Amino acid sequence: MAWTKLATLEEVAPGSVIEVERGEDLIALCNVDGDVRALHGLCPHQGGPLGEGVLNGEVVTCPWHMWEFHSGTGACGLNAGLTIQTYPVRVEGREILVDLA
Ligand code: FES
Repeated sequence: MAWTKLATLEEVAPGSVIEVERGEDLIALCNVDGDVRALHGLCPHQGGPLGEGVLNGEVVTCPWHMWEFHSGTGACGLNAGLTIQTYPVRVEGREILVDLA
């Protein structure tokens, strides 16, 4: 595993999603009531920035055309069989570490 610090807990308030850029990767970081989750940051529909979307419960909604993705599984709520990549997350102290490998 290759843990990379992407943010701190202060940057991802409970109930929010933020966008983080690492090299060529965009990652959407979500805080579901203290449970931090990481997903691929580009929507598979037309490349919308999921990290600029909205988190409702466990669901991230793309800001461009409102496709929805489960933050834990990456499953698309509108298209069964379509799943985006999720990444393992570890919180150490206040730091959010993600395995992008
Ligand atoms: S680009 Fe995300 S729903 Fe269209």
